[in-house]
Amino acid sequence: MSIPVVTVGQSREDVVGGLERLHGPVTVVRRCAELTELLAACQSGLARAAVVADGSEDLTASLVDRLGAVGVAVIALTDSAEEAARLRGIGVASALTGVESAVLSDRIAEAVAHLTGGGSGSLSATADPGAALTPVQADAGKNPHAPGRGEIIAVWGPAGSPGRTLVAANIAGELAAEGKSVLLVDADSYGASIAAVLGLMDESAGLAQACRLADQGLLDAETLRRVATPVATKLGSFRVLTGITRADRWTELRASALALVFECARQVADVVVVDTGFCLEADEELSFDTMAPRRNAATLRSLELADTVYAVGAADPVGVPRLVRGLAELEAAVPQAAPVVVINKVRSSSVGRGPERQLQDAWARYGPASELKAFLPHDGAATDAALLGGSLLLEAAPDSPLRRAIAQLVCAPAQQKSKTFVFSSTARRKLKD
Ligand SMILES: Nc1ncnc2c1ncn2[C@@H]1O[C@H](COP(=O)(O)OP(=O)(O)O)[C@@H](O)[C@H]1O
Ligand SMILES: [Mg+2]
Repeated sequence: MSIPVVTVGQSREDVVGGLERLHGPVTVVRRCAELTELLAACQSGLARAAVVADGSEDLTASLVDRLGAVGVAVIALTDSAEEAARLRGIGVASALTGVESAVLSDRIAEAVAHLTGGGSGSLSATADPGAALTPVQADAGKNPHAPGRGEIIAVWGPAGSPGRTLVAANIAGELAAEGKSVLLVDADSYGASIAAVLGLMDESAGLAQACRLADQGLLDAETLRRVATPVATKLGSFRVLTGITRADRWTELRASALALVFECARQVADVVVVDTGFCLEADEELSFDTMAPRRNAATLRSLELADTVYAVGAADPVGVPRLVRGLAELEAAVPQAAPVVVINKVRSSSVGRGPERQLQDAWARYGPASELKAFLPHDGAATDAALLGGSLLLEAAPDSPLRRAIAQLVCAPAQQKSKTFVFSSTARRKLKD
């Protein structure tokens, strides 16, 4: 069966004409004057491949993504090795401008097979933005944490400020204090706050910058380090990709670009800690335009790509039911997430005497099967001191039980202090009120 192809690049008449004269595996169904026309033709279901015969510089990851979402593979012609590498990074196959028509036709067939799942390599990595928001089989989209590649830890929690940012920022600080190279990423597209919490005067929206570079195929380890703000603490330093400065800038955090940012982040850091937003709704429910940027893409893509997900809930009669409902939504949206459940702001004034026991009992009755991994105490003095100083708990309240409990979640046992504030469910059962 012949593959319908659309082309752009009128100056390459030789190539396009050559394809037409093959009368074989590919059929040129439309010659477009520019990329927007090509996109429109593809969205109408006309083609399965697009040949960008000149002007490949205008191809971005999000455009390639949109074409991939409607089942169109992209092949571009270039004689520049640098441009070919950039194109590869955004999921585009390339060929030399002098390529023989028969060879080009084979490349087109390969790229189409690749897109439809018959190939291997990096092209499919960015080809399907919808995958970010479509429930996928357990483990299907999980990145194996290959040796030498950074681990991604995502911190999520339902609406109502359960403490996602506090936990994420302090996890980053504790891991940096352990000597790890850490990149903290603010991917909360509703209420980015990492910069404010760390006292950074940063208005640069580092994550949006990184996404923009990734979209253009220009993000590498060096540029990522450049757009990430360095943060020094007494015990170690790390880097931060700050969040969007206004909630209406969420369109700058597209799933396809974000996946490329995380891919690069894994190369530059041992651990990438991501502070996410609360909302898990798939945008198809919000919009009929499946090509539109997706409101919750940043959170959903972060959760999909994470090796470990912490789900943080607030320890009170509002926070716990929200967490229970939120975990069910998380299970539906990102089945492979397998979150580690953490209850924050634990205090007897909100749940009664022996708060951990009370919470444990309520969880056994109403909660999902997943165990409560840790209870983080409420400590307004410690968190306020940290906020006031624009610092982390390891500086503002180094001996606080809250700081130790967060450290104990992520640090190697040898690094932990003797006093234990994180309880396994078995240990908890032995506790008296
Ligand atoms: N364990 C805690 N004890 C006291 N205050 C806390 C605790 N955890 C978080 N907070 C405070 O609660 C507020 C919301 O926390 P934040 O981390 O910004 O929530 P989220 O990111 O989930 O919206 C902040 O003022 C923070 O300092
Ligand atoms: Mg937050």
